[in-house]
Amino acid sequence: MSTTISTSTTARLEEKIVELGPWHLNVQVTPEIGTSIYRDAIKNDPQHAEASSNVAFVDPGDKFKKLMQKIYPNGLKDKRFLDCACNCGGYSFWAKELGASECFGFDVREHWINQANFLLENRTFPNENVNFAVQDLYDLQKQNLKPFDITLFKGIFYHLPDPVSGLKLAADLTTELLYLDTATRSNFDDGALVIANENKNALMSGMYNLNWFPTGPKVLMNILQWAGFQEFHLLFWRKDTHGNSSRTKVNQNVRNGRLALLASKKPGLFDGLEKERSDRRELKLQQKD
Ligand SMILES: C[S@@+](CC[C@H](N)C(=O)[O-])C[C@H]1O[C@@H](n2cnc3c(N)ncnc32)[C@H](O)[C@@H]1O
Repeated sequence: MSTTISTSTTARLEEKIVELGPWHLNVQVTPEIGTSIYRDAIKNDPQHAEASSNVAFVDPGDKFKKLMQKIYPNGLKDKRFLDCACNCGGYSFWAKELGASECFGFDVREHWINQANFLLENRTFPNENVNFAVQDLYDLQKQNLKPFDITLFKGIFYHLPDPVSGLKLAADLTTELLYLDTATRSNFDDGALVIANENKNALMSGMYNLNWFPTGPKVLMNILQWAGFQEFHLLFWRKDTHGNSSRTKVNQNVRNGRLALLASKKPGLFDGLEKERSDRRELKLQQKD
């Protein structure tokens, strides 16, 4: 009897995952079923393949959780977590797995929030006090939200017509840590924002056609310092990620890059990360000797 129920539940979940695609993030719904089944299901279906061609499928969950555990070795207990442009909400679920007390994710596109709400209803992992909304970043203030300890600003900076004001809205709601991940334009001296015009109809892009790429971490640190952050930790900056994004048209030869940067309003929050980095450097030097 229980096998029958489980089999039909599995079939229902799989059917719904395929219906809700394309997916960007690999998120487990149950220990056995993840959103990755969409990838398998569409392999021989040209209609789905076309729809998902501009949506990269990535699996950052474990890496994100490991990073958070390095910054917060005791977990995210009592932390409020905000995810700006949350897509299907993966990072909120992972923050919840680490013990966050409350998670709120928003995205301007209903397509992604439908996925997030499906996961919320069907995940067999802790989901209390996780909420999602269809919302534009620029309307964030209207909600009178309580401040958050941790804010994720990932994949959104370079999809905004006014990224400085957009980032400031998120920064003002953040009391401790902001995690910024963005595409960059690396063929300019760092210290500027480079204009572009993206396709606003693509599921993964912005809504305004006008967008700006930072030239590197320096310009972002300046903006974040102005927005109240005191300490920074550059996780990575790859100056060439090879190939131009099909979603972004610019009138010049461009070098696409990517960076991830942590900003803190709490002094000493990155001490553990900095120590680990210097230990690694030390070890490398010793190995060279
Ligand atoms: C490149 S994806 C990044 C998704 C996710 N944050 C991640 O890192 O995997 C960009 C996301 O930003 C959303 N988005 C674009 N403009 C937005 C806006 N003004 N307000 C809220 N979400 C926006 C898109 O719908 C899309 O889900």
